Amino acid sequence: MRKNFLRTTAAIGALALGVSLAGCATGASGGGSDGGATAEAVTVGVAMPTETSERWIADGDAVKSQLEEAGYEVDLQFANDDIPRQQQQLDQMITNGADILIVASIDGTALAAQLANAADKGIPIIAYDRLINGTEDVDFYVTFDNYTVGVQQAQSLLRGLGFLDENNEETGQTDPKVIEIFAGSPDDNNTKFFYQGAIDTLQPFLDDGRLTIPSGQVDMDTVSTLRWDQATAQKRMEDLLTSTYDGGAKPLDGVLAPYDGISRGIITALENAGYGSTIEAGLPILSGQDAEIASVKMINDGVQYATIFKDTRKLAAQAVEAATAYAEGEEPEANDSETYDNGVKVVPSFLLESDIVVADNISSLLIDSGYWSEEEVAAGVAQ
Ligand code: BGC
Repeated sequence: MRKNFLRTTAAIGALALGVSLAGCATGASGGGSDGGATAEAVTVGVAMPTETSERWIADGDAVKSQLEEAGYEVDLQFANDDIPRQQQQLDQMITNGADILIVASIDGTALAAQLANAADKGIPIIAYDRLINGTEDVDFYVTFDNYTVGVQQAQSLLRGLGFLDENNEETGQTDPKVIEIFAGSPDDNNTKFFYQGAIDTLQPFLDDGRLTIPSGQVDMDTVSTLRWDQATAQKRMEDLLTSTYDGGAKPLDGVLAPYDGISRGIITALENAGYGSTIEAGLPILSGQDAEIASVKMINDGVQYATIFKDTRKLAAQAVEAATAYAEGEEPEANDSETYDNGVKVVPSFLLESDIVVADNISSLLIDSGYWSEEEVAAGVAQ
């Protein structure tokens, strides 16, 4: 445990867990006099990157509500994908007395000064979903198995193209297919994991010619999409169609897309170029990520082929568990202590599992689990 942090650990821990201390009043501002410990609210600063994507709104909501249920005070901020704004928000959280920070960064390398300040004050720092790089001052990382997410994105593309069955076994189909690939934001540490998982999975098909990439654009920097921006992805797809596909006259069978917003931008470009408005009508197979409601509707309607479901409720629960460990003066439990090297140290991590969603399992994965309702899927809007 770092210096300064342990105020009245017993009280904080008890408060965090909602347990009453003998002889003490409970509640955020409750204080007993005869137990010797005063229950003091633990404040958790939660920095989220943007509200322009549903995924992060869901994360922010889930983290806030689960922390509040556990008895914490929460200072939740979204930074609109603006790096100086996120830096300022963190400065402000520290000034306002945050005891623990949970941070989903915009740029994984831009927060070192803020985090050094937090560390000086003994504030534990939990990186949320995106690793923070180039600093000693990150204590724990909660995320999904990002390499496997990339593998699943490629597997879903290969299923849609007929090369793999639903168990990801090869079907024996050898018809060559034409694809293009997109990657996420180059400043997000997850991007290279998604990309690598996907490329490793596609490689045998590229090597023997079952897949070709006519534009020749393959390396991560060339195919990346700054800030995961939908309009940027649409523009790159339009440029590819012009440069390589005669504006839409040549066949294109599939596109590897690493996030639902990027998938929707690509689909718009493809529809505008005349590839059709459903897969049945000729739209290429598209992968995705995050099970955003607009894309889940598109999958249900046969427009987008697949997405990857990362249950933000489970990630939030893991972040709360880590925060609670720190509040109790303990270290959170990691299940990976090798993979996530941030350039200064290997950050102990807890990795969660993700699932491929296609039209057939929207009900079992998303509706039955209460992530989206049937009405939301039909409307394509969160209600
Ligand atoms: C997250 C993805 C998300 C992407 C864009 C990544 O860091 O892991 O789930 O699709 O950011 O918001």
